[in-house]
Amino acid sequence: MSDPLRLGIAGLGTVGVGVVRIIRQQAALLEARTGRKITISAVSARTKGRDRGVAMDSYAWEDDPVALATRDDVDVFVELMGGEDGPAKDATEAALKAGKHVVTANKAMLAIHGQALAEQAEAKGLALRYEAAVAGGIPVVKTLMEGLAGNEITRVTGVMNGSCNYILTRMENSGATYQEIFAEADGLGYLEADPQLDVGGIDAAHKLAILSAIAFGTRVDFDGIQLEGIERVSIEDIRAAADMGYKIKLLGVAQKTGRGLEQRMQPCLVPDSSPLAQLDGGTNMVVLEGDAVGQIVLRGAGAGEGPTASAVMADICDIARGLRGPVFGQPAVGLVNSTAALTKLPAPYYLRLALVDKPGALAKIATVLGEAGVSIDRMRQYGHDNSSAPVLIVTHKTTQSDIETALAAMDDTGVMAGPPVALRIEEV
Ligand code: NDP
Ligand code: HSE
Repeated sequence: MSDPLRLGIAGLGTVGVGVVRIIRQQAALLEARTGRKITISAVSARTKGRDRGVAMDSYAWEDDPVALATRDDVDVFVELMGGEDGPAKDATEAALKAGKHVVTANKAMLAIHGQALAEQAEAKGLALRYEAAVAGGIPVVKTLMEGLAGNEITRVTGVMNGSCNYILTRMENSGATYQEIFAEADGLGYLEADPQLDVGGIDAAHKLAILSAIAFGTRVDFDGIQLEGIERVSIEDIRAAADMGYKIKLLGVAQKTGRGLEQRMQPCLVPDSSPLAQLDGGTNMVVLEGDAVGQIVLRGAGAGEGPTASAVMADICDIARGLRGPVFGQPAVGLVNSTAALTKLPAPYYLRLALVDKPGALAKIATVLGEAGVSIDRMRQYGHDNSSAPVLIVTHKTTQSDIETALAAMDDTGVMAGPPVALRIEEV
């Protein structure tokens, strides 16, 4: 039997406590599966005396995560504090410098500093693993890096923020407004301390940036993501989309195109028949497409103590088994900067227009669309309310710039009773 694998865990919140629980409750199973005991030497958090629902007194305590990361009795530094910079980054860098392997769930840190940390780890032959950072309990990093290693990945699509999916599906099921359901989710503790990370799409974009690097062999490029959150999704659009056979999701898409790498995180419509449309509440789904395998759909809990700790444990077990390997699936120094695709691949669009109720209004809109090169696939007009006539249009595939041209021209028609809404339709 090999020596035990000794952990130092920084961060004893939701995920950290979950990891400690699994290590205590599944000690025999973990040993049988890895051939080594997995032990905890020391832990760190902000507040030493806090009751965490699990006894910590058998582990040494460090106030300073950097001191924890560099202890002689730590083989693997487990970073579960969070935050793009600050103690998480300082302690991770210190751990690698001191020759320790690192396991982290910190997507924010990896999306911004992943390349530098990967180069640092690989230069020393150390593991830097992060399964929990993307889609919580779903083993998507392992699937991409190992299970699909023989494929050229053509597209990665996914719903990767449970809080946003909760808000959108609750709006859909209850008919309540964004503001009402946002307040409910906040009250239930579903949102990050800074809710903008969730509803602004930033958290999901961090995850997409990491998957994109693995899938396409490029450096992590968070800034290259076209990013829009869910704040402007209205209950009117959720209802109208449903009426036309679609659901609205905060969707991440990364794909290689002839013009470069397209990375988007934005509210999109998906057809009711798409697996993504079936996703309710806080669940995540990632759809991977490879040239040989076709489409793979992974679905599961994207957050929470058990699911996230499960993913952290997968990384710890791999390190216990002696697995190392490049951080993003290929040596980090060889990863190239992606060329961001400035124009997006054409797609159908959903338009919701409020028109003034007078003869010829619809004809003017049809003309504007035609002149911009946008072709109508389907259209629906509803009964007028007091001041306007709501019109829904689904276009044939068209470019974002043609849609923007058409929307700008609508302003000058004199028949618009309110600002138009345009959302991309993603066929997954
Ligand atoms: P929590 O906020 O529940 O816990 C954070 C922990 O870090 C706390 O124990 C806190 O100490 C400790 N901490 C914070 N700052 C410091 C510091 N300066 N020095 C020492 N300890 C510190 O976070 P989560 O467990 O939810 O998340 C941890 C990581 O996992 C984050 O990167 C997050 O993005 C990621 N993640 C979380 C998921 C989830 O479902 N929660 C899902 C996927 C990823 P104290 O308890 O004393 O305040
Ligand atoms: N805020 C994140 C979510 C937590 O809602 O998905 C998991 O990363």
